Amino acid sequence: MTDGSGDGSPDPRPPKRRAVVTAFMNMKGGVGKSTMAANAGWFAAYYRNLRVLLVDLDPQFNLSQYILGPKVYSNIIEENAETVNAIFRDEDRPSSLIDIIKEVVNWRDGSCLHLVPASLDLAWTVRRYVTARTQVLRNYLNDVREEYDIIIIDCAPTESFLSTAIYQATDYIFVPVKPEFLPTIGLALLLQSIEQHKRDHPDEPVPEMGGIVFNDTGEHAEHNRSRAQVRAIAKENGWYVFKNEVSHSNSYPAGARAGKPIFLTDNARSWKKEEFNRFGSEFLERAGF
Ligand SMILES: Nc1ncnc2c1ncn2[C@@H]1O[C@H](COP(=O)(O)OP(=O)(O)O)[C@@H](O)[C@H]1O
Ligand SMILES: [Mg+2]
Repeated sequence: MTDGSGDGSPDPRPPKRRAVVTAFMNMKGGVGKSTMAANAGWFAAYYRNLRVLLVDLDPQFNLSQYILGPKVYSNIIEENAETVNAIFRDEDRPSSLIDIIKEVVNWRDGSCLHLVPASLDLAWTVRRYVTARTQVLRNYLNDVREEYDIIIIDCAPTESFLSTAIYQATDYIFVPVKPEFLPTIGLALLLQSIEQHKRDHPDEPVPEMGGIVFNDTGEHAEHNRSRAQVRAIAKENGWYVFKNEVSHSNSYPAGARAGKPIFLTDNARSWKKEEFNRFGSEFLERAGF
């Protein structure tokens, strides 16, 4: 991807900025972390012409399937291609993340959507290591930060050494919340996890809270009750709540099956696409764009 000419002539390009690292987290599953990571990544690359790297850090590899499509993903696994798990190994680690990155789309203007896929092996790594080697994620990402404008990490809904690795590597955490029964449990666990991280690593910077975003919303009384509970927790902790919500649309799962963002699926209603784009804009704004 770098095209250093090596002829000693001055480089006419402006200095490249270093990627902002973001993560979608919530210690609850099924709230839309992977869906939002995939769609926000596509939005940033497709509409904002950014160089986007998605990193799947969930052993359940949903993001990898959403982005590559289930068929291409299973080919990769059958071919024994390296996945993110390789960076956490004892030996034989890849020399750079570039060795693992799948170049999903490259546009002519330089913008791109790339992916570091995950696989089930990551589950074994998580079981084996309790605290080991959290810094490798930050180090590997640092190596490629000039090749991208934004890095988006998709996280598992569980506490493990990966959570620490993510806190050490990330600038902004974004928290999708589904306004349903007991919406605050995942938030409380996330809060505990971040507080524990601060106690364990008092000298390290911690990521900023990019904000809570309501996802998969609808006009139910339960959703309003649930929103109020979440807003109360957000207020207590000084967390931002996104102005733009993402409502329920069957085009999200349909897009996931087709390996497409909502705005490139055929059947999505235009107001659903516009709604996601408003969230996408707010997301980038919160991440400093
Ligand atoms: N806004 C939405 N409308 C409809 N379905 C959604 C929406 N967001 C997520 N989903 C669906 O909900 C399920 C869980 O979403 P996912 O992104 O995998 O959650 P997580 O990564 O937090 O576990 C998936 O089947 C996904 O397609
Ligand atoms: Mg997920």
